[in-house]
Order: sequence, then C-alpha cells, then structure tokens
Amino acid sequence: MKQRILRKLDQLVFSKGRALMTVLRGTNLRRWEKNTREVPSWDSRNRVIAALVPPGITVLDVGAGAQTMRQHLKQIALYTPCDLFPTTPDTLICDFNRGILPRVPSVHDLAICSGILEYVNDPDAFFKFVTANSKGLILSYNVLLPGESRIERLGKDWVNNFSLEDIRELTGRHGLRVVKEIHSNPQIWQEMVFVLEPVSG
Ligand SMILES: C[S@@+](CC[C@H](N)C(=O)[O-])C[C@H]1O[C@@H](n2cnc3c(N)ncnc32)[C@H](O)[C@@H]1O
Repeated sequence: MKQRILRKLDQLVFSKGRALMTVLRGTNLRRWEKNTREVPSWDSRNRVIAALVPPGITVLDVGAGAQTMRQHLKQIALYTPCDLFPTTPDTLICDFNRGILPRVPSVHDLAICSGILEYVNDPDAFFKFVTANSKGLILSYNVLLPGESRIERLGKDWVNNFSLEDIRELTGRHGLRVVKEIHSNPQIWQEMVFVLEPVSG
C-alpha cells in the first residue's frame, strides 16, 4: 500500500516537472530535430493513414517529421512536406507556434496531419492554414479520455486537450465533416485517425 502511494506520488512529481518544462520551454525543438533523423516508434500509424490515401492525388504532409509517409504513400502525384526542420530540401518551413506559415505553391487534394495537432497552441489558426491549402484532410489525434490528467498530457508536450466530441466540433467549425473515424492502434484507444472532407464539396 505504502509502495503504491509512493509510486503514485513519484509519478505525479515526475509529470508535474515535465509539464512545467513544456510550459517554460515551448516547442520542444531538440526533440523534433532528433525526430527528423529516425524512423518514428509510431510509424504503424503512418501506414494506417497511407492506406487511406487514393493514388494519383497531391498530398501536403503537415508536420512531416522524418517523412516516412513519403515511402508509405503509393503512386501519388505530388508529396509536399512541411515542418519545423528541413528533413529534405523540398520541405516548406513552418512553426505554428510562432506564426511562421509557408506559402504553399498550390492547393493540394489532401493534407495529412499525423501527430501534430497535439503540439499546436492555436488549433484554429492551424486549421485555417490547413483548409486554405488543401481540400481534404486526414488527421490523427490522441483524444482526451474521461478522467485523463491534463498535467500528464502536458508532460508529453501535448498542449491541448480535445475529446472526441471536441474534435468533431472543432473540425466542423472549419467547414470539415468527419467521414471516417479509426482507432489506429489497438493498444492505444485514444490514438485516433479522422478522415475529413469539406462540407461544401
Ligand atoms: C510526433 S511528430 C510526427 C511526425 C510525422 N508526422 C510522423 O507521424 O511521423 C510531430 C511533428 O510535428 C512537428 N512540429 C512540432 N511542433 C511544431 C510547430 N510548432 N510547428 C510546425 N511543426 C511542428 C515536429 O517537427 C515533428 O515533425
């Protein structure tokens, strides 16, 4: 019993420390720079997303990271990566937390936002950028679970806390409707993938 309480206390202090770091540091540049050089541990999610993408279309990968998506996508017409760091020379540089938005040369058929929304301070500005530069969207998001600690989320660098309902509402506000919702990882219930289409189109 005492051990359990001590472990819980330890966990609480640890996540509070990490959460405080997130608040003080802002965007975790060191983590993301490193991320450009390795196949991510969550790459199975990228495969799930790639399987949803039809051939022949143009894709804007927002928060492209190491760009493993580029290899997973089959027979698309154009792949445009966009991120904090230029993993490849064709990367459009952006920083959604500092208002740095690239000029995207053309409106793409689809934006892929895999593992980025959690790290964005102003989701409305983010969706404005995405919807201005693409017609459809595939979005991943770790939805807030009932009773989940916001401090623990912040400790993972997740700066926002949307429930499943909130995601439907937020995307609806930006003219998108959810046509598919998938649990992309059977081990992590909260990790979801949403296929979204413009309401008007
Ligand atoms: C969890 S990784 C996902 C990478 C890739 N989409 C994937 O699934 O493999 C998050 C990505 O978001 C980018 N990112 C984080 N904060 C950002 C910001 N403020 N502006 C633009 N990109 C950001 C990081 O550089 C990183 O590539």
